[in-house]
Amino acid sequence: MTQDELKAAVADAAIKEIEPSLDSNTVLGIGTGSTVNLFIDRLGPLRDRFQGAVASSEASAERLKAWGIEVFELNSVGTLPFYIDGADEVSDHLRMVKGGGAALTREKIVAACAERFICIADASKYVAQLGDFPLPVEVIPMARSYVGRELVKLGASPVYRQGVTTDNGNPIIDCYDFMIDDPLAMEARLNAIAGVVTNGLFAARGADVLLLGKDDSVERIAGQ
Ligand code: 5RP
Repeated sequence: MTQDELKAAVADAAIKEIEPSLDSNTVLGIGTGSTVNLFIDRLGPLRDRFQGAVASSEASAERLKAWGIEVFELNSVGTLPFYIDGADEVSDHLRMVKGGGAALTREKIVAACAERFICIADASKYVAQLGDFPLPVEVIPMARSYVGRELVKLGASPVYRQGVTTDNGNPIIDCYDFMIDDPLAMEARLNAIAGVVTNGLFAARGADVLLLGKDDSVERIAGQ
């Protein structure tokens, strides 16, 4: 299967995973990216079976609305039963690097409000160690240079992502050459730098379930 076919297969599997739980009170948390777009396109025809969704980006919100799915502000809903999102990398214990699409902060917030995080990814995203994919860090604009210097002290090669502003109005720094031995500790360490909004390590709140698209099947991996 091609990578796009694998993404479609995991989007189908995610629908199967959540479908039995949908009812008129269900508000779903929806992530961002090309895999999630395929999921939204499968969710659209089911729009009468649930109440609506909270989106982790303006792009996903627009796609949901185009399907006639009501999009709620996070502050107007309580705990979400599911958050469905992709990943740039996922390792054992279902820890992830996210933010390739610059939506990491809202993704982390919506994921924090969910009972279950379902990660949907093709097999190319499954890695033994996080960090080959450059780790995104969203920063307050005036702190960009300072945060960059602090990232160098931690061993990263920071690169300002040109021409990208997050939905929160902030720039992104991508950390290259930054293999991560201890994702939990590094997530907290990076977030402690003044001016960091958040970083793309999802370790403290990893996924609960990974639906991983492989050549001939979708493997369901439950977190520990
Ligand atoms: C966006 C993300 C996405 O989940 C991640 O980039 C994966 O995207 P795709 O499904 O297009 O490979 O974190 O900020």
